[in-house]
Amino acid sequence: MPGIVVIGCQWGDEGKGKIIDFLAQSADIVARFNGGPNAGHTVFYQEKQLVFHQVPSGILNQKTIGIIGSGCLLDLKILKEELNSIQALGIEIKDRLFIDPKVHLIFPYHQAIDRMREAKRAKIGTTGRGIGPAYEDKYARVGIRVGELRDWNRFVDHLKKNIAFKNFYLMEIYDALPLSEREMIEELKIDLPRLLPLITDTHKLLTDCLKRDGKVIFEGAQGTLLDIDHGTYPYVTSSSPTAGGVCANLGISPKAIKEIIGVAKAYTTRVGEGPFPSEIKEKLGESLREKGREFGATTGRPRRTGWLDLGIIRYAKKINGFDKLAITKLDVLDDLPEILVADGYETEEGEISEFIPEFAGRLKPKYVKFPGWQKSIAGTKRFEELPEFARRYLEFIEERTECEIVIISIGERRTDTLVKKGFFLF
Ligand code: IMP
Repeated sequence: MPGIVVIGCQWGDEGKGKIIDFLAQSADIVARFNGGPNAGHTVFYQEKQLVFHQVPSGILNQKTIGIIGSGCLLDLKILKEELNSIQALGIEIKDRLFIDPKVHLIFPYHQAIDRMREAKRAKIGTTGRGIGPAYEDKYARVGIRVGELRDWNRFVDHLKKNIAFKNFYLMEIYDALPLSEREMIEELKIDLPRLLPLITDTHKLLTDCLKRDGKVIFEGAQGTLLDIDHGTYPYVTSSSPTAGGVCANLGISPKAIKEIIGVAKAYTTRVGEGPFPSEIKEKLGESLREKGREFGATTGRPRRTGWLDLGIIRYAKKINGFDKLAITKLDVLDDLPEILVADGYETEEGEISEFIPEFAGRLKPKYVKFPGWQKSIAGTKRFEELPEFARRYLEFIEERTECEIVIISIGERRTDTLVKKGFFLF
């Protein structure tokens, strides 16, 4: 039962999309298990950059099936745009992309509430995509699931009730204008014929595939520190992007998971509000942002940048249970004369080695300095060919996290990927 989980170790944007696209070359299925269009997974295809918000990153491999699994949220407008751009590349998704009927839908009222809350209540720095309010409806048991679209009249009834209630809420609480019921329903009706064939019992697809020893990648969106329970609450998303989320959301047995790979950027970024111990506030933070093109793939917002924080990886390792790492964007550090790594923290109570989300604002990183390799690593084909100081940097990460680095990404394209000798995923 080779199920492989790919998880973000930091605050999302670790480059999971590229790693999944790479690994999916030998996968039967890639299944997303959490989040919605707040994700922005960037992949390169025939010299074109694509950003997936809804569709699993493995879809570019023409033999791989993509699943938007239960536990996810779906914005049909965004899905439509994504399908158009995939099909414009000549990639066929017929019989290759499936949406579980249990996926919850995001409607314009979710986005309106998300934005109002950000503007008028506590600012989390959300993506504004309606994620929190849509998950709220799911857990309040008033949400609308994709499967309901199969019975149009009942669906419209349910939606009308929700719109009436949300409009009341928007007007009374936020003094906002009501949203048009007619527009929402008409737009959905137009898209229905294209959507209905995609709605499938994905649980059966997954369990059948695992049973016959097929290869499944479970694609995590966001990252460990954005987990609703284990992240830097309240500056988190509203789902479980951690390994446990796979089983709870998709209804997959933990026994189906053979391997977990943690993806971490060679430095750290965060978008939105909240504590960030190794953040670089000086000019260097800005140049790292420019060099790494650290602007949100979903919102375009500039990402905050900082040094790699090993306490975070140790914490992510504990939460997710991985012992293998993929390190991304190593090339972004090419020019730096000196590289710092946070290896534990000083606190009022003494030194600690592992990140603690609840006290993140009070953690003072202890830095270890490394000489930079100061040359381009573009075109490197093997681990052993990396400059000595780059290898030392990676070895230090391995030693201090007790994880094996099995993949290194040194650029945007699939070919810019180094795989450790002897590492076979499937
Ligand atoms: P929400 O998921 O839109 O509610 O946003 C909650 C927090 O998670 C905000 O800080 C967002 O910036 C962050 N966030 C959500 N999705 C992603 C992602 O895919 N990458 C990075 N940050 C994200």
